[in-house]
Amino acid sequence: MLVGSDGIVLVTGYEPCAEVLKSAKWGVIDADWSDARLQGWRTHRSRVAFLGTALGLNGADHQRHRRCMIPALSRRAIERRRAALAEITYRELHRFRAGLLDADFACAIADRLPVFAVCEVLGLDLGDADMLQQWAVDIASCHEISPSPSVLRKADEATSVLHDYLHGAEAAPRGLLAKLRRQENNHPDDIAFLITVILLTAGWETTSFLLPNLVYLLHRYPDQDALLRHDRALIPRAVEETLRFESPTLLDTRVALDDTFIGGHPFRRGQLAYILHAMANRDPAIFDEPDRFEVRRDETDHLAFGYGAHLCIGAQLARMEAQVFLEALFDLFPQGLQVTDVEYRPGLAFRGFSRFKVAGAG
Ligand code: HEM
Repeated sequence: MLVGSDGIVLVTGYEPCAEVLKSAKWGVIDADWSDARLQGWRTHRSRVAFLGTALGLNGADHQRHRRCMIPALSRRAIERRRAALAEITYRELHRFRAGLLDADFACAIADRLPVFAVCEVLGLDLGDADMLQQWAVDIASCHEISPSPSVLRKADEATSVLHDYLHGAEAAPRGLLAKLRRQENNHPDDIAFLITVILLTAGWETTSFLLPNLVYLLHRYPDQDALLRHDRALIPRAVEETLRFESPTLLDTRVALDDTFIGGHPFRRGQLAYILHAMANRDPAIFDEPDRFEVRRDETDHLAFGYGAHLCIGAQLARMEAQVFLEALFDLFPQGLQVTDVEYRPGLAFRGFSRFKVAGAG
């Protein structure tokens, strides 16, 4: 754990990170905490919406939001969508191979497949995916640490447009949105909107970083690529190892809900800590040779999906998207893809590529 002279605390080891994430003495930044400390935050529609989602709620309201989402994202529910998602993935990779999409793999594939998946879950029109993805980009960018006023303005606009779109959009009869709308009277907040905001942003950005990471790591470690192509039963483990080795989200923020301690260090109620779970995923006390990318690795208890009360609800969906993607990649690009030109996205909270050019199609 690192404590700065300005009182900022970075929690780094696996055990302390897990301890905070599972402790009832720590919660996420919520509206009450923000009212007491962040002047003017309620003037930003994007922030109000975000703190109304599961990632901005503690206690009973948080549980209520989770209960609404879990049936649509359980392992069984996601398995039922495997064939539909595989069809979309193969179709888009075919189009990419034929040169019909943007030449940048990040724009053409990685940014778009996760939005198709969220549309499937919510029951939104797949034809609206590109538009929804642009709104997701704008809304999610305000989740970085200290977003600029222009980023916040764009996020506010996108939040309003998404809200209007949902009120006008026809949801498919079997999607999560249709179910939530049928239960609307049970929820005082606009829960269908809030759940769309969180699934679209949490489900898009993270997975859009995971897919290029898979390509990049297999390109960088050809021995691991060969192992995987030879034995595709290793694909689920390779996905877990990629999540551990290159976690798309680097940190979670937590607030002490009471006076408490981490590793003997005292915290006052309301104090903020940054939980660096990506560092925890390289902790040598838990992971043997943590800086080695090893698709046969046995230890898969990484913290890339968080831990405790806010454990990622979309983990099964993300895993399946990545598994289906690798199958399609191996089938359609038997010689592999050569990564030719990449750039990391700036920022502290997420790690992923903003540009990801490849060669070797066909
Ligand atoms: C590689 C992909 C993904 C990664 C690395 C990831 C990571 C995370 C992490 C670290 C958290 C916990 C945040 C915290 O504790 O503060 C989280 C929460 C969440 N994730 Fe994911 N996620 C991914 C994909 C998805 C997908 C595909 C969806 C849904 C479509 C999703 C929906 C959510 C939701 C709703 C929460 C909030 C849970 C709560 O607050 O109770 N995520 N995710």
